[in-house]
Amino acid sequence: MHRRTTATINLSNLRSNLREIKKHSHSEKVCFMIKANAYGHGLVEVAKACEEVVDSFGIISLEEAAELRVSGVKAPLWLFSNLWKESIADLEKLSVTPVIGDFSSLDHFLSNSSSDKKFHLKFNTGMNRFGFRLNQKDLLLQKLEGFEGRVEGLATHMLDGNAYRDEKGACSRQLHEFKEFLRAFPKLANKQLHIYKSAPALLNDPPIHTDEYFQWIRPGIASYGCRPETSFPVTCNLKPVMQLESCLLSFQEIKAGESVSYSSTWTAERDSLIGVVQIGYADGLKRCLSNKVSFLVAGQRVPQVGNICMDYCMVDLTKVRDQVKEGQQVVIFGQQADKIISVEEVASLASTIPYEILTSIASRVNRQYKEDESREEPTR
Ligand SMILES: Cc1ncc(COP(=O)(O)O)c(C=O)c1O
Repeated sequence: MHRRTTATINLSNLRSNLREIKKHSHSEKVCFMIKANAYGHGLVEVAKACEEVVDSFGIISLEEAAELRVSGVKAPLWLFSNLWKESIADLEKLSVTPVIGDFSSLDHFLSNSSSDKKFHLKFNTGMNRFGFRLNQKDLLLQKLEGFEGRVEGLATHMLDGNAYRDEKGACSRQLHEFKEFLRAFPKLANKQLHIYKSAPALLNDPPIHTDEYFQWIRPGIASYGCRPETSFPVTCNLKPVMQLESCLLSFQEIKAGESVSYSSTWTAERDSLIGVVQIGYADGLKRCLSNKVSFLVAGQRVPQVGNICMDYCMVDLTKVRDQVKEGQQVVIFGQQADKIISVEEVASLASTIPYEILTSIASRVNRQYKEDESREEPTR
């Protein structure tokens, strides 16, 4: 392998997180969100490794569905996207269930799909992205007349990851609105309900709303071992899934007063040993992290210095100068010896969320998969 920048993905930890989330969520079934290349972890590898512990997969394109089906994934696939007229044939061929949240998609689907093809409806309770609004009830009732039996599930999407315990917060308002929908569509009683993403499953004691019965949970980020936001209080046992690492390529001995990298944004205050690391912004290491982030080298935190370049960046190795050599491991996030750098820490330094850090990892970064020695028994 010439380029050694690697994301190592622990599939045992991924399955363990999914089980933990299910246990905490009080839901019977899991729709595991594997859109966006399984949040950067590898669509097919992740789906195959988790097929036995989840009940469906959440995707956002028929291209994802085709890749999964060609690779032999048989689990139900739920498509969270609009539908074009020409999408319907592929939807049927790939055995994908759409989650429909707009009239155009609904019309295409009802006019072009076969009469036994099921679908889910999505209600807009405040996210204002997809979903039918309560004031569109009459038109929706009219369009659904005679098709109610084909509706398999009812969904909404929560907009605020942190407000599950706040009785006056967005989550409560959304739940209230969702219940209004259920009342407005009595012919859709007893459908499968799904509204929650990762966040509520991470809270230790049940969030105030778990008295509500939702058969499904749709976790994404927590399955990959991350909190939705750095400040999110997590008390359930999430295990890290991805470790991003690279290696030292070469070294420069520089004098105090010399600068490093483009635009001279960092200048050495003392004579320093600078290492070149084989990772840059084209690998997904965001340029805005320049001079902010640290890496793990020789079991210690060392500061990244100078502007991050497209393919490389530099670290100040002065404090570990006697312990480094060409080819040595550099951990961007993950663990080395007893030190840990989390995805959440990197996200926070980049003023973003863990989702963006994970999904930005470029396709040229090698993905390696590992299983813990004793593979757990499959459970649902
Ligand atoms: C419709 C839908 N459901 C569930 C999720 C999962 O959210 P999370 O990754 O916060 O668990 C997403 C993610 O964006 C989503 O778009």
